[in-house]
Amino acid sequence: MSTFPQTRLRRLRRTGALRDLVRETRLDRRDLVMPFFVGPDTRANEGLPALGRYSVADLPREVEAVAAAGIPGVILFGIPDAKDEEGSGAWDADGVIQQALRELRERFPELLLLTDVCLCEYTSHGHCGVVDEHGVLNDESLELIARTAVSHADAGADAVCPSDMMDGRVAAIRSALDDGGHESLPIVSYAAKYASAFYGPFREAAESAPSFGDRRGYQMDPGNVREALRECELDVAEGADVLMVKPALPNLDVIRAVRDRFDLPVAAYNVSGEYAMVKAAAARGWLDERQAALESLTAIRRAGADLIVTYWARELAPSL
Ligand code: PBG
Repeated sequence: MSTFPQTRLRRLRRTGALRDLVRETRLDRRDLVMPFFVGPDTRANEGLPALGRYSVADLPREVEAVAAAGIPGVILFGIPDAKDEEGSGAWDADGVIQQALRELRERFPELLLLTDVCLCEYTSHGHCGVVDEHGVLNDESLELIARTAVSHADAGADAVCPSDMMDGRVAAIRSALDDGGHESLPIVSYAAKYASAFYGPFREAAESAPSFGDRRGYQMDPGNVREALRECELDVAEGADVLMVKPALPNLDVIRAVRDRFDLPVAAYNVSGEYAMVKAAAARGWLDERQAALESLTAIRRAGADLIVTYWARELAPSL
């Protein structure tokens, strides 16, 4: 066994060039996906610029900048002008997402267009499925979620990403897509999605906070990792093409466990709260935003994620 003083690990840390040479995990902009919110109007978000929303007319200019920076894909979230009990805006052929997809598909044939498939932004009660007096109804929601996925595919999506956490949604979506002639469209499943306080800024931006109760009856309990593997196992069996873990930073062990157990690509969502914490601390001069962002994303990659959805994608791309 080599020991000090023969072995000195600091030798390889002496210069930036040496550190670069031996770095085990690198960030690459080709592994990043940038989220965008599409709404009836364009509205800036001063504190969190990446969580502002764009109208269908203004979106292409923003997306252009992201594509020009070398980011391979975007994931779209819709904020409809009207919400109802069922969330019918989600599958409306003329809904915000469907319009945005047609627009972007035409202008950016190469860019990957991913869509979040969920009802929470579209329902008047803000839950991810339809509800009755007992709570969120699983099986009744599946058909609506599958319909939404098909409408995204019809409008030009490259992949659909169900984030509702209903049981059986991947199978329902897979069979609806296949019936609709979209057998080649991949499903990126938010397989292990935890009930998390870190979605706070997103819910603010997407106006999707539940009006009663919370999401703990369908999103996962943060105490569980074996259950995350069961979620993944079911999603694989149902036809998922990519497994996502979310949020990323509080669940690096989950990302690692999923990576070790499954051979599918693993995605991680560096969520709004993870981004907002760093932004807020940086605004107070408490830390360096860029370094904190790079460290966060490197840790997520090191834990085993192949691709990362992050609000920093646009800002960091030119240097990656
Ligand atoms: C929709 C959805 C949410 C996020 C992604 N898809 C919010 C939620 O489940 O409440 C959160 C993303 C983020 O915080 O950046 N269900």
